[in-house]
Amino acid sequence: MSKQYVIGIDIGTSGCKTLIIDQEGHVVRRAVEEYPLFTPRPGWSEQEPEHWWQAVLSTLKRVIDGFQPVKDIKGIGLSGQMHGLVALDKDDRVLRPSILWNDQRTGDQCRKIHDLAGGIEGLLILTNNQMLPGYTGGKILWLRENEPDNYEKTRRILNPKDYIRYRLTGEYATEVSDASGTGLFNVRERQWSYSLLEILDISKDLLPACYESPEISGALHNKIAADIGLSAGIPVAGGGGDAVVQTTGTGLVKPGILGTTIGTAGIAAMALDQCYDNPQGKLQLFCNNMPNRWHTMGVTLAAGGSLRWVRDMLGGSENEVARWLGKDVYELYTDEAALAEPGCEGLLFLPYLIGERCPHPDPKARGGFIGLTLRHDRRSILRSVLEGAVFSLKDVARLIEEMGTKVSQIRTSGGGALSDLWRQIHADVFNNEVITVSGSAEGGAYGAALVAGSGVGVWNNVEEAVQVIKTEKRTLPDEKSVEVYEKLYPIYSELYNHLKTTFDKLADIYAQ
Ligand code: XUL
Repeated sequence: MSKQYVIGIDIGTSGCKTLIIDQEGHVVRRAVEEYPLFTPRPGWSEQEPEHWWQAVLSTLKRVIDGFQPVKDIKGIGLSGQMHGLVALDKDDRVLRPSILWNDQRTGDQCRKIHDLAGGIEGLLILTNNQMLPGYTGGKILWLRENEPDNYEKTRRILNPKDYIRYRLTGEYATEVSDASGTGLFNVRERQWSYSLLEILDISKDLLPACYESPEISGALHNKIAADIGLSAGIPVAGGGGDAVVQTTGTGLVKPGILGTTIGTAGIAAMALDQCYDNPQGKLQLFCNNMPNRWHTMGVTLAAGGSLRWVRDMLGGSENEVARWLGKDVYELYTDEAALAEPGCEGLLFLPYLIGERCPHPDPKARGGFIGLTLRHDRRSILRSVLEGAVFSLKDVARLIEEMGTKVSQIRTSGGGALSDLWRQIHADVFNNEVITVSGSAEGGAYGAALVAGSGVGVWNNVEEAVQVIKTEKRTLPDEKSVEVYEKLYPIYSELYNHLKTTFDKLADIYAQ
């Protein structure tokens, strides 16, 4: 029998990535295209859905161009930035630019939703999540309050990847992982929270049909299939919100394995085999890409972002030197950081440079270096930044463990996973084995292809699909460093509580 292939498409924030993978999990084609992000006001973050669509078409054409035989491509899976709002009118025209996951305009609306739902406890009963400012629910209220004409005309509300599904298939549909991130979804029952929709006076007709992630949600329009060179009617599966499906793409399908990602933000995540109660709503507790499985994660906002801040604000000639040496500039920084000793002789870095989401949902939180002495130099400052980001991930992991799970292995991905030092710090801070796996650098597109492939029969289910993932690098904890971090982490972990009133006072003087 000939080999089978699946397409994965990810609508990211900086661009669209499209892949073709084979049934052994190899990426055989890849195309990426960027698009702009607009910030019409401070704190606002928007994109044009038409830009996503053009990038999808062009990357699809590029991966399919010259691919043979096209009939062996069995399905398409979608991944996308979560929580974004796309509003369509009665003729399915986009009414305004999409409001994205990292847009901060909905603070008032989120507070209102909490009040109407009976506080955080009430909301946790309905959705098992708090309504974070990034989530779609607050954006719907914002639209109603601030652009009543647009709201009046709105007939459909879709998340970014689901708008692309609509353009590919004509179906208004989502799947359980992205639906969870609207904040309007009853994740325990895996369906819209009709009670919350009623409380908020949002018509359920605005929201799309919701599938399990591997389920087929539609078939590719004949005209588009002809245009890009694919077989007509090829099935498009549910797919997944990027933060969920990219962990699925690293093989996180059952409890015990902690997935960490260090990109600009840092994520610690775990698959769950039951829907635990979300501890004070501090975690994000979503439906996973497998029926009857859930996903929990906490996002620390400035992990790689803290290192970028060091690069931009404290860096000097490194960019130039890196260019000369043909190295990544971050490699120079991590090489330098490796020269400081673990624990940096008691220098701790608090990574709350843009406030924090988890474990302290607090926009007023600020970063800091604590424990500086005359002995500390650039090397220790750099190393403490790397350590602070991992300490923050450990804070998230502790919340995940408090629900009743136990971390037995760490799988790390994202830019941070490329650094030997950062992986070693992970292993030492968590006192656990850290591995990297094949495909993890491909992000959501890879996971979406695996999920879609299990929906169209390339694999029997997602558990079987992730068997194609191979371990690449293995990092074991170093006993001596573990001892150092066992002493320092508890001190780090207390810092936020000691400093909270200081952060509030600073915010009173210098509004964010
Ligand atoms: C997840 C989240 C981000 C976005 C952007 O909650 O906010 O991961 O999905 O990619």
